[in-house]
Parts: sequence; structure tokens; C-alpha cells
Amino acid sequence: MRFILGLLAVILCGSGIHAQSSFTRLGSAGTTSFDEGWLFKRYGLQPDGTRLEEPQQAETAGFNDGDWQRLSLPHDFGITGPFRIDLSGNTGKLPWKGIGWYRKHFKIPAADAGKKIFIDFDGAMAYAEIWLNGHYVGTWPYGYTSFRMDLSPYLEFGKENVLAVKLNTEKWDSRWYPGAGIYRHVWLVKTEPVHVAHWGTYITTPSVTTQAADIKMAVTLDNQGNKPVKATLQTDIFEAGAGNTLKKKVASVQQKNIEVAEGSNNKVDMTVTIRNPRIWSIENPNRYFAVTTVLVNGKKTDTYYSTLGLRTLEFTARNGFLLNGKRVEIQGVCNHHDLGALGAAMNTSALKRQLVLLKEMGVNAIRTSHNPPAPELLELADEMGFLVWDEAFDAWKHGKKKNDYNKLYDEWHEKDLVALVHRDRNHPSVFIWSIGNEVMDQRDVAMTKELADIMRREDPTRPVSNGYNDPDGGRSSGAVQGLDLMGVNYFFGQQAKWDADPRYANMPTMGSETSSCVSSRGEYFFGTNRQNWQITSYDLDHPGWGCTPDVQFATNAKYPNLLGEFMWTGFDYLGEPTPYNSDETNLLNFRTDPSKRAELEKALEELTKNNPPSRSSYFGIIDLAGFPKDRFYLYQSHWRPNLPMAHILPHWNWQERIDSVVPVHVYTSGDEAELFLNGKSLGRKKKQPGKDFRLVWDDVVYAPGELKVIAYKQGKQWATDRVATTGEAAKLGLSSNAKRIKNNGQELAFITVKVEDKNGRMVPRSHPKIRFSVEGPGEIVATDNGDATSFESFQSPEKSAYNGMALVIVKAKKGARGVLKIKAAADGLTPGQAVVPVE
Ligand code: GAL
Repeated sequence: MRFILGLLAVILCGSGIHAQSSFTRLGSAGTTSFDEGWLFKRYGLQPDGTRLEEPQQAETAGFNDGDWQRLSLPHDFGITGPFRIDLSGNTGKLPWKGIGWYRKHFKIPAADAGKKIFIDFDGAMAYAEIWLNGHYVGTWPYGYTSFRMDLSPYLEFGKENVLAVKLNTEKWDSRWYPGAGIYRHVWLVKTEPVHVAHWGTYITTPSVTTQAADIKMAVTLDNQGNKPVKATLQTDIFEAGAGNTLKKKVASVQQKNIEVAEGSNNKVDMTVTIRNPRIWSIENPNRYFAVTTVLVNGKKTDTYYSTLGLRTLEFTARNGFLLNGKRVEIQGVCNHHDLGALGAAMNTSALKRQLVLLKEMGVNAIRTSHNPPAPELLELADEMGFLVWDEAFDAWKHGKKKNDYNKLYDEWHEKDLVALVHRDRNHPSVFIWSIGNEVMDQRDVAMTKELADIMRREDPTRPVSNGYNDPDGGRSSGAVQGLDLMGVNYFFGQQAKWDADPRYANMPTMGSETSSCVSSRGEYFFGTNRQNWQITSYDLDHPGWGCTPDVQFATNAKYPNLLGEFMWTGFDYLGEPTPYNSDETNLLNFRTDPSKRAELEKALEELTKNNPPSRSSYFGIIDLAGFPKDRFYLYQSHWRPNLPMAHILPHWNWQERIDSVVPVHVYTSGDEAELFLNGKSLGRKKKQPGKDFRLVWDDVVYAPGELKVIAYKQGKQWATDRVATTGEAAKLGLSSNAKRIKNNGQELAFITVKVEDKNGRMVPRSHPKIRFSVEGPGEIVATDNGDATSFESFQSPEKSAYNGMALVIVKAKKGARGVLKIKAAADGLTPGQAVVPVE
């Protein structure tokens, strides 16, 4: 009877997968989170610079870990600091170098005996080594690659098992803050011996029109059992709902009698057509999920979830980039992977908050500089409509630093590239593969070709690129001929010559890194750009290799065949506080210009002597706390020309400058604007198309009161903005980015605090020390203020406001319900609170 019912279920439901159901993550349905219940201890270099020697046999099951710290992943053991002035600003003045040991005691039920058990690491920094019950399982040194380990050979079903993971960042050098430890999610995967292989589906879309889309799916079926099988594969395609939910089923395909020998695999091609498909685009990022079911003798042995999107990509040398046949100018940002005060510890709410802000600014593409991203970035990019330049390396065989990828290159480059492509190639957001950034070997013809060929072998559907800061050397050497797409970082000087060179005339070209403008939120200096280790927010400063955003916009206009740009950077990040960064890798930007190099060398010497407190970057359009700088509106005005907007800078609290000049700049998507001070017109100014990207009133004589701008477009009123002199700081105003948060222990709310006058206007240049507390079932995760020179701990519940603003990040306790009341208090100010319900 049971047998008949089982058979009936298979016949009635087919694959047994229903619309409206949801899944944990892409990959096997047997995947569950393995983030909780870890024990941690730091050895080697300690935060204070002393050493704690590693114990013997920390990998063995019986090792006494009784006094280790209990924690959940993702975890970054460098972010707790403290900031140390003696450490390099280039990597955030944080003590991230050390040896991190993690252990986890866990049981797999006896009933699972016979199943395969894997552990999937989304990323572990760095030189991961893994043991199970004292047996060595494997290693993956490059901290940005996702990898799988097979635990089955040493696993004891029904008994306690001990997994031990050692990470060693002492062996790793970086040009930015890399984080340390198991900083991304970890998953346990249980499957029957016959299952879809790891990253075992490869979906391409040979033909996509609005009438029909042909989908080709190569499925690799593993048989890790001890007898040959004949399997049936069924793939059902569903429209994708928010997150990982399946909506309407739109197509199905089945293939029977697939033979797979024991201990072997078989690759099966499945093809299916979707009629009247929903196309993936930046504006309408429609996704589908493919659900592949494996049946052996009528019994389901695996269900595997893959993502896909239907779109066409075309890269041309003359007409730019075409998405679904329409030209799309790449309005991109480069971003590093850290999440500000959270460090490198991956968190989806934090990443999503970043992407929401970037979308608002008009960003349509992200470059994952200079390494493979967390998988969640691609999932969010698919879902929210961003294109992704997916990058592998910052160094090849010859490093920029003693212990960077050069130490791994020979043994690992192919494995790391294959892992990147296999993990990411089904994502519709991924549109370009990048094999590197400004690598020392960028003129190496053979190496370039070898790496590009590996990428093309694994996925011929996307172009392979590389970011050059020696674009002339790269092209004259012929190395660039090994690529499909040229990436130029900063140096567009000889662009016209190369566009005309027959070797490259047909090669699409992208501004893979541009501008590198630097600024500090809310700082305005007069007659100088730099003061107190901060940088003026008039958006006029940049290192010698960079330029203002305006100059880059003009360059793009001059070379309309460029695909667009990836500006450096969307968000401030930990480390690399140029121009207050004494790291010698700065010199690499002037590898072909001896006089500029000598000049920079001198500046670096001076910086080394002065040892600035700067520990995070100034490049961001948005600061480390996630607060937009003025530059946000400059990019928005250019990238969202149809959004009526105007933005005035600076603020208007200049009591010490009464009767002195305070230049006023206006960023607007209009083409003309009139500025008023206390109701009196200061004149109407017009942009010269292709030349002006801001309107400037350089001779405004300061008087307290109100500045107002009225912007026009084609003669019609378009947008207004105003800034007013505020009163004294009187109170704290709080607002949350999330209306409510889930009690899953992961979701975060970001609460912005503004120091306000009695009328609720933010008081610029105010820096009171704010004390945070949470009432209800939640806790403070981190605090920040966006000040690149602050040594206040990110974990402290106290934070000085920086130019009127501070941030507190909170989460709900796991499983708890109720309401979080986040409170902020400061001496002499009326306290404020934000209320965030937990669900
Ligand atoms: C580029 C480099 C980036 C960053 C940037 C700063 O040359 O690729 O990683 O260092 O300069 O301007």
C-alpha cells in the first residue's frame, strides 16, 4: 500500500515541486545553513601585537575547546580591532593578521547513513585547512573563492563529529582590508549518492526573443554510489518570485534512461523552450528558476535549484553595449567587499541596503573589485537589476605585495577561475568576466591568453576582460589581443590612437576604473582641498592618476564608443585611505611616468613620517556608514537625467565667514539654474552640454539665512533645493531603513541618527558623543559615523556624530518577538528613538 501511494505521488506531482514553494538556496534541496554553534579561538598574532602560540592537535576530535568563544558565522575576527596607529592604513589599521581556529561539534542522524555529506564554504579568509574528526579533509587558500569539501569519508552517522577549520591571514597580504576568518556563510549539503554535481547545471540561452526563448541546460549527474544507475532527470522552469520563491511553472523537460556508472558522472544536455518569456532587464529583472529532479527507480534522489534570466548581451566596438538589442551606457561602480562597520562579515541586509542606494543614484552595474564576490551579491543583482563585472584577481604570477596571489598562482589559478565561472555562470546579472586588475603581468601575452582561454572554455557566452593601468603597454605588447574586451583604468590619453589601430579597432572598450575622486562627507575647505586628514566635499580632489567625475563624464562623451565606466568607488571601504595612504603600491599607478612617480614617492615618504590616522577610504560616493556624500547627487544628476533633482552644497552654517566668499555648487539633472540667497537672485547659469556637469557660483558672499536654487530643463522649471542656516543642536532624530525586521538572527535594521536643531534641521559640523541602547528583544551589532579617521570601535554603543550624523545597526534576537526601541542620547540634547517591530 505504501509503495502504491508513493508511486501515485510521483505520477500525480511529476517532480513533486510546486509553484509557491520556496527553497533555502541555489543548489541541492538538501542544503541547510551551517552557520550556528561554532567555537572560535584566535592564535598567532593577537589584536595587541603579541603572539599566542597555536596549541598542538587543535584539529583532533578530543581537543579541549571548552574555553573557546561561541559564535555564529559569518565572522570576521579582524573587525573587532582595536584600531592601531602603528598598523598600515592600507589595510584599515586593524589587526586582521592572525591565525583563526574554528571548531564545530555536530551530529548527523543515523538514519542518514549512506548519504553524501558535504560542507560548502562561500569564502574563508585565508589559507583554509579543514579536518573532520582529526582527519585532514582539504584546503582552499584563496579567501574569496567558494569551495566544497566532502565530509563523507570521515563522518560518523549518529555520533558526535568535530569539524576543525584553520585560517591563516598572516600568510596573506592585501592592498585593502580583506577581513579574516569564516567571513561568509557555510552550508551543510546532504544528498543521496546519485545527485546533481556541485554547481552541476550550466544554463545558456541560445535564442531569446519576446515570442520564445530556447534554453539549453547541461546537467552533470554524479553517481557516488557503488552500482551503476539508470536515472531520469526532470527540469521544471518556474517564474521566480521575491527571494527564492517559485511562482508559475512555465515549461518542463524530462530525460529518461541516463546511465551513470558507479563512482562516475554523466553530462546530459536538456533543452526546453519558454513561450512568451519574460525578459530580464535592468528595469524589469525577471528571473526564472530551473528545478531539476533526479529519479532513480522512481525514487527521488535529488532536487537541484538553478537560477536563470533571459536576456541578450552584445558588445560592440562602435555602438557600445547592447542589452536585449538596446544600447545601455554602463553607469557602474567598483566596490570592495567589506560592509563598513560589519567588516568583511557577509550580511544580506547590509548588501541590499548598499544596492538600494546605488539604484537610487542611477547605477546599473557593479564591478566586484578585485575578487569573486559573495554569492548573495549576484543573487541580489539578478533580482534588483544590476549588471556585474565579475572579477577574479588583483595579482597573477608577479605580485604587488610579497604574499598576495603570486604565491598561489602556479598551483591555483585554474582551480580558482573554474570555481568562479562554475558558481556564477547561470546568473543573468553577470555580463563580463574579468581575469584581473592592474596585474604586474598585464603585458604578458601568453599568461593573458591562458587565463582568458580558461574562462572561455568554461563559459563562451560572455566576454573576458582585464583592467589595465598600463593600457598602452598592454595593447602594444599584444597581450590585449588575448581578450574579448578591453578594460582601461584611468589612462585614456591614447584612446583615439588605439581605437584606430587595426588590432583593436574592433575590440569593445570599457572604462573599467575611473575618477577616484576623494571627499569626506560634510567637510568643506576654502582655498585648499585637504585639512585634518579630511578632504573637501566640493568633489574637486583626486590622486594624480584620477580625475573629477566631471572630467570623466566629458571623456566618456568624447569617446562615445566606450561601453561606459566603473567609477572608483560606490562605497567607502576599509583601508586604502588615499591620499593619506603611504603604501608603496600607490606607485604602481605611475609605472610608465618617472617624473610623476618621483613626485608621488616624495609624498609617500612624507606620509610615512606623519603616519596619518586615516583607516578607510575617501573614494566612496557614499561614506562607510552608508550616508551619501554630495557626489551622490553629481552622479545622480548625470545618470538619471529624467529624475527632476537639484542639490546645493555646501551647508549654510558659516558664522565665521560672514562677508567672506563661500562658493556654492549645484548638481542638477536640469540644464540651467538660478540661485537665491535670502530671496535675492545670484544669477542664472546654464550648463554647456558635454562640458559642464555642475553649476558653480564661486563668488557668493556668505550671509546667514537661506540658499535656494530653482533648476530648469529646456526652459521649464524642473527642480528646487534649499539649505538654511540652522539653530543650535537641540535633539536627536532617528530613522530606520527597515519598517520591520525578521527574527532570523541575520536581518539588520540600519538606524540613521541626525543631530537636529529645534526645527528638525540637521546641524552640520556637530559632533556630540551619542550613546545608543536597545529596549526589547534585540541588540546593537555595530555603530559608525563615516569618519575615515575615527578610532572609535565599531562595536561600541557610543559614537561621536560626524558632521551631524551617526549610524547604529541593530538586529533582533533569534526567535524573539516584540518591538525594538532604539534609543539615542547625548549630553544637552533631547534624546530620540526609532521603533522597529520584529516579526
Ligand atoms: C587603482 C586600483 C584600485 C585602487 C585605485 C585607487 O589603480 O585598481 O584597486 O587602488 O587605484 O585610486
